[in-house]
Amino acid sequence: RSSEHIRIVEVGPRDGLQNEKQSISLATKMQLIERLARTGLETIEAGSFVSPKWVPQMANSSEILQHILQSPPPSKIPITYQFLLPNIKGLDNFMTTYDSFNNSKSAEDSYPTPPNTPPAENTSSQDPNASSISPEQTPKIELSLFTAATESFTQKNTNCSIAESLKRFEPIMSRAKSLALPVRAYISVALGCPYEGPDTDPHRVAELAVSLLEMGADEISVGDTTGMGTAPKTAALLKVLKEAGVETKDLALHFHDTYGMALVNTVVALEHGVRTFDASVSGLGGCPYSPGATGNVATEDLVHLVNSLGASTGVDLEELSKVGEWISGELGRRNDANAGKAVLAR
Ligand code: HMG
Ligand code: MG
Repeated sequence: RSSEHIRIVEVGPRDGLQNEKQSISLATKMQLIERLARTGLETIEAGSFVSPKWVPQMANSSEILQHILQSPPPSKIPITYQFLLPNIKGLDNFMTTYDSFNNSKSAEDSYPTPPNTPPAENTSSQDPNASSISPEQTPKIELSLFTAATESFTQKNTNCSIAESLKRFEPIMSRAKSLALPVRAYISVALGCPYEGPDTDPHRVAELAVSLLEMGADEISVGDTTGMGTAPKTAALLKVLKEAGVETKDLALHFHDTYGMALVNTVVALEHGVRTFDASVSGLGGCPYSPGATGNVATEDLVHLVNSLGASTGVDLEELSKVGEWISGELGRRNDANAGKAVLAR
């Protein structure tokens, strides 16, 4: 698979930070996002519009969205920023910020610039060395919805049944379509559930994936929330998904590394044709409703794996490793990226 491109969705600023007990300042979150944007990552999940009572750490996601829209982090390539939301209330909160930005932008656009006006200052970053943002580098925004493959997890995570969660998505999906915002949909606990055990029914996952695609989802991220996935279970799930008609181009896999199996499972998924993977820098994270689950697979380790197979991610591993070391220091936690630590020790 030489020179084949593997797309990484960096979920550190959302999945990675949502479970941190200490409060993390907006400045630190924005610094993390800006640093990640410089590494060559093409998709970054930046926040979530969930209930602040349920997940206090994500409470300032409106400010993050506003910041990204007004002052897009400098990057060499256009970046897609994803925001997670569970219900119409989350969409309304998202829209308040999204609309106010677009309205102020169209008001600006509708006034012709008076002659002899000096060119606008580049306000895109505090960094004076940052290159200016060309129109094609305007950030792209995507929405992420989430449900799960077991009833118990869905209840604990979103206080509703699986069927109710799908019902909640219908109006969100149609509003997203009318705004031309792409939608990703997560299916959690696809390879094991903290409440129902390690044997999630792969047919249930496939059925949900098909429903979500039919409803209009542009991509399905299949989540091994608990890290209970193994190589045989991953292969079996991918076989069932294929039989159900789910194409690998519509799939992302989202591995947590609780049992150290994430990279093994990634290789299995690569062999089955999957080309999009979620990861978090330095292995940040854990799910608040999945007790004991550790972070996502470290992005540094995923990049190293892909490089070792002769494929590419477009990510500068050394730069990314520095970001992982920095954010681990900021949070006072262990850097869980093996490749990241090794690269920095060279
Ligand atoms: P609920 O308590 O049933 O909500 O929670 P409700 O509709 O009854 O409303 C109760 C109050 O919450 C009301 O306010 C609502 O306005 C407010 P009050 O009248 O009491 O003042 N509310 C909201 N506020 C802000 N944003 C909202 C929102 N919705 C209602 N969107 C709810 C239901 C879904 C809101 C709640 O269960 C929730 O927020 N859950 C999210 C949990 C979460 O974020 N989990 C982590 C993300 S999933 C994950 O990490 C897995 C993943 O990484 C993949 C993998 O690893 O598998 C994606
Ligand atoms: Mg997750």
